[in-house]
Amino acid sequence: MRPDDCWLTTERLALRRMTYDDLDWLATLYSDEEVTRYLGGLKTCDQVEDMLRTRVIDYYDANPGLGMWMTLDRATKAPIGFHLINNIQGETIIQIGYGLAKPAWGRGYATEMASALMRYAFEDLKLPRLAGMASLPNVASQRVLEKIGLERRGERSFPHPAYAAGGPLAWFEREADAWLAER
Ligand SMILES: CC(C)(COP(=O)(O)OP(=O)(O)OC[C@H]1O[C@@H](n2cnc3c(N)ncnc32)[C@H](O)[C@@H]1OP(=O)(O)O)[C@@H](O)C(=O)NCCC(=O)NCCS
Repeated sequence: MRPDDCWLTTERLALRRMTYDDLDWLATLYSDEEVTRYLGGLKTCDQVEDMLRTRVIDYYDANPGLGMWMTLDRATKAPIGFHLINNIQGETIIQIGYGLAKPAWGRGYATEMASALMRYAFEDLKLPRLAGMASLPNVASQRVLEKIGLERRGERSFPHPAYAAGGPLAWFEREADAWLAER
């Protein structure tokens, strides 16, 4: 697959693999206080580069089918943010997640692509279940997780430093059989 190939599309959006050419765009995203408030806080360019190597680019080959992808506006091919299906750090549990640049908020984009990723995870990857988590005050993200068909199942905490500082997280899960039966 060429890096600029879009492998998943919805009506308005597309996903493609990230490359090292995306470093500047990602570093700008992670330098926005509002965007990163519930994403573990601001990251320096070096921290973003490390994440891009370990959690994105090396991760594709080590975990076929999973990853963190650039989310594009299909009409312009411009990046608007990211969507992911990957393991919660330090755990084997597979989660769905997303983060968008501020101009893209409030248009249903997070939900639109996360719904398509749920179907891909259950139908193509045959994952038995998916999890989602969000900081307790991050109501918009919790709403997205509900809208794509995950169920709120209390709160969970994880010891990995990426999640530990913010305290317990709103925890969501859904089994493939139940999700597919509804659709
Ligand atoms: C969370 C985020 C991805 C949502 O993206 P989005 O494209 O605006 O989300 P959608 O438009 O698909 O849906 C958002 C839903 O939350 C609701 N919402 C938004 N802000 C809200 C708030 N402050 N209180 C209550 N509901 C809120 C919207 O009304 C919408 O629900 P509705 O369709 O029932 O009206 C985006 O705000 C973001 O990137 N935030 C920063 C990164 C982040 O927090 N990522 C998630 C980490 S767990």
